[in-house]
Amino acid sequence: MTTTDAPALEMRGLTKTYGSGPTAVAALRGVDVAFPPGTFTAVMGPSGSGKSTFLACAAGLDRPTGGQVLVEGVDLTARDEVGRTMLRRERIGFVFQDFSLVPYLTAAQNVELPLRLAGRRADARQVAALLAQVGLADRAEHLPSALSGGQQQRVAVARALVTEPGVVLADEPTGALDTSTARSVLRLLRAAVDTLGRTVVMVTHDPVAAACADAVVFLVDGRLAGRLDAPTPEAVAARTARLEDLVPAAAR
Ligand SMILES: Nc1ncnc2c1ncn2[C@@H]1O[C@H](COP(=O)(O)OP(=O)(O)OP(=O)(O)O)[C@@H](O)[C@H]1O
Ligand SMILES: [Mg+2]
Repeated sequence: MTTTDAPALEMRGLTKTYGSGPTAVAALRGVDVAFPPGTFTAVMGPSGSGKSTFLACAAGLDRPTGGQVLVEGVDLTARDEVGRTMLRRERIGFVFQDFSLVPYLTAAQNVELPLRLAGRRADARQVAALLAQVGLADRAEHLPSALSGGQQQRVAVARALVTEPGVVLADEPTGALDTSTARSVLRLLRAAVDTLGRTVVMVTHDPVAAACADAVVFLVDGRLAGRLDAPTPEAVAARTARLEDLVPAAAR
């Protein structure tokens, strides 16, 4: 990677306000940030600081109030809903905290779903290879209800990678998992960056998870509040403890 590479994902002056009038909530207040290709970045910040809003705007799942989101140089915010959906299906993988697998589809069918939605042929070998990569070769025909939480999240990671997206966004992907299953999900995200060249942006509250990333960016009250490169769990924990002090008392 060189520093002249165009960012895989970039936000310029991103704002998001929910509602209007006296009850309006400014969730994002002008965020400028760029994620170079082939990097793994964690997004941290106190509850309510705008992390999920940030990720949803990045994915085109939510529409910003102002500013721009560029995915591999394409302005997502200039597109209508159909255009945003197309771009998301082609270029973005999303991992949800609660897995969000389709309950009546098997693990293999869940993984191939994004290909079908994008009108692409589902390649059974590719799906099988992905499931093997996440350690679930023998669970392909199981329904989500017959899988553990960690196994479901690994299916969700395989699903996020199946379209070979440039950008993978994950909102607290290990939030519902125990320590060792969390570690296996983090290894998968790390491998997506190191071996496949994907760009991963992951929201987390866990300093150990954040330390798997190349860098951590911090959000406080809808604004960027610093960055930590080559993070260690101790450095992340120390920084997040200080950030809590910056949260306006009214928002706690
Ligand atoms: N649909 C909505 N309508 C109104 N306000 C919202 C909506 N979604 C989020 N908010 C508000 O926007 C702010 C940012 O919310 P967001 O979910 O992005 O926070 P977060 O950093 O992900 O928090 P957490 O760590 O608790 O998940 C909060 O004040 C929240 O109450
Ligand atoms: Mg959130």
